[in-house]
Amino acid sequence: MNEKDKVPYVVTSKSHTAVAINCAAKAGEWIQSKLGTVKQLGTKSSAQDLVTEVDKGAEQMIRKLILTHFPDHAILGEEGVEPGPEALTKALEAVKDEPYVWIIDPIDGTTNYVHGFPFYSVSIALAYQGEVILGVIYDPSRDELFIAEKGKGAYVHGNPTAVSKDNDLSESLLATGFPTEHSFNLPNNMAGIQALLPKVRNLRGGGSAALHMAYVAAGRLSGYWELGLNPWDIAAGALLIQESGGKVTDTKGRPYDLSVRNIAATNGKIHEGLLNTLSEAEATGY
Ligand code: IPD
Ligand code: CA
Ligand code: CA
Repeated sequence: MNEKDKVPYVVTSKSHTAVAINCAAKAGEWIQSKLGTVKQLGTKSSAQDLVTEVDKGAEQMIRKLILTHFPDHAILGEEGVEPGPEALTKALEAVKDEPYVWIIDPIDGTTNYVHGFPFYSVSIALAYQGEVILGVIYDPSRDELFIAEKGKGAYVHGNPTAVSKDNDLSESLLATGFPTEHSFNLPNNMAGIQALLPKVRNLRGGGSAALHMAYVAAGRLSGYWELGLNPWDIAAGALLIQESGGKVTDTKGRPYDLSVRNIAATNGKIHEGLLNTLSEAEATGY
């Protein structure tokens, strides 16, 4: 047989979920083994937007593993897209007709990783015809694996997750992220903080969008908002929250989809309060 006519061997027996878990666990373990050894620290869209050889290596590892099992699937990975909204729009356009698209953030929380602050994660989602059907977030520092399958619930280490029961902003622990884009998103975020902080129990900025969202799903945070994100930061977390009984929209209340960059994610009960406060403070990022 001619070399080019050879059909590559494809492992077909594993489910999407098993592959996602395997990828997250393997990449997480490798990332953890490299903690404190970063040699190439680079910047992307701004001086605060970091990337290392570990981010790139982990994404390569995940891509290879996914393609071993699903060679026809498309992959949208953070390290494969140029920084900035224009490149993202193009990348989303390029995969819009692909039935299956994997969405990967190899290290969500690279700044924390570089500093040894143990709050970072691997985030992997799978979208089918534009809708997220699977989400896995792995925190290697705590060995916590969050999994959600559309219509089948969300779990952390096999136990079902549920959003918190806090009824009101005054009983809420919120989180946000501080934007690396300083001309528009940062002042908007600061206006939001100024308006929300006096109304809530307290506010956290942990530095991993994906883990913040996993914590909303698990009821450890009442809600979370952030401006200027990318699909790999939020796709897995959005499904986790929806499957845990919470609500995910953009900061104006429109339904979540892969193009949403300004995210509001809550237990549902405080959603309106969060959105109204952001809107009154002109802090929605729009
Ligand atoms: C970042 C983290 C951070 C958030 C930033 C993201 P990265 O992702 O999620 O918490 O505030 O907006 O870009 O760059 O570490 O993958
Ligand atoms: Ca990220
Ligand atoms: Ca990342």
